[in-house]
Amino acid sequence: MSFTIVEQAPARMNRSELAVPGSRPELFEKAAKSATDVIFLDLEDAVAPNQKEQARKNIIQALQEVDFGKKIVSLRINGLDTHYMYRDVVDVLEQGGERLDLIMIPKAGTAADIYALDMLVTQIETATGRRKRIGFEMIIETALGMQNVEEISAASPRNESLHFGVADYAASVKARTTGIGEPHPDYGILTAAEGDKARDYHWGDMWHYALSRMVVAARANGLRPVDGPYGDFSDPDGYRAAAKRAAAMGCEGKWAIHPSQIALANEVFSPSEAEVAKARRILEAMEQAKKDGKGAVALDGRLIDIASIKQAENMVRLAEQLGID
Ligand code: COA
Ligand code: MG
Repeated sequence: MSFTIVEQAPARMNRSELAVPGSRPELFEKAAKSATDVIFLDLEDAVAPNQKEQARKNIIQALQEVDFGKKIVSLRINGLDTHYMYRDVVDVLEQGGERLDLIMIPKAGTAADIYALDMLVTQIETATGRRKRIGFEMIIETALGMQNVEEISAASPRNESLHFGVADYAASVKARTTGIGEPHPDYGILTAAEGDKARDYHWGDMWHYALSRMVVAARANGLRPVDGPYGDFSDPDGYRAAAKRAAAMGCEGKWAIHPSQIALANEVFSPSEAEVAKARRILEAMEQAKKDGKGAVALDGRLIDIASIKQAENMVRLAEQLGID
């Protein structure tokens, strides 16, 4: 281990994160009753400019009146480059009571963006005597944000999670796609020509590097990495495959832009009973190895060693959080 200890953000379940436009208050109760872990009430891109003020009022009312139970509730504010943002923060924090848990910062570009919001939120919390500290979730969805993702991650003790905003990211790097997280037919590998043999074309994941880079920055700073939206909500198989890729790479959850995607995310980001049982067996085998004075042993014909303990412990801890035996 390094002598530097990575402090972890508060542990919260973040398998599914449902987007709910602030301009559609009829959806608030439905979101509260859904199985999502986190709800983000949106003031940004799902809300048209002429609806921004009303959406803010809707959210303030919902935070006072809707029973969100144990769900984590977040507010996606407008970008720091708009004239809406300061009122999003001031009005909702001053008038929305104590229920809000998190603020989601879209298009986070530099550490200074986070610093500015930390300053504003700290002043309001102090002035209003708010007891529950607001945490921050940052969306990494621009080239600038990806370039500065390490500094952004470390910019405030309020930081809890990083989110990959695939559509805005695609626009920012001028990727040739209009999709929202779906695979791209041009991003693949044609196998080499070998005589008369038929050549195969393998689709790849064009967002692998971006998501992986974000995961590293998040984990190095004790934050939760969360994958963003999958736009085609009539394609559950496509969503599940994207979610599984993200889970395999280290993400803790994925956005749901439609209620049908919640169950898919919860399923993919909960470890299966078989995975948990395997992790427990690894821990037992390593416990025995320790007694026998060995650092590496074989289990089911595969190497396990001290690193396996940490992987297995992560799995068991997650299972315990979710109540899986
Ligand atoms: N939260 C809670 N409930 C939702 C919901 C949401 N985000 N989206 C849809 N529902 C409800 C609908 O009201 C409907 O309820 P009902 O069965 O009681 O009538 C049910 O789920 C099925 O919805 P459906 O009719 O298929 O969808 P829609 O046409 O009303 O809306 C979208 C589709 C995509 C416009 C809508 O899901 C939405 O706005 N999603 C969030 C998008 C967003 O915020 N994007 C920004 C981040 S990328
Ligand atoms: Mg966006």
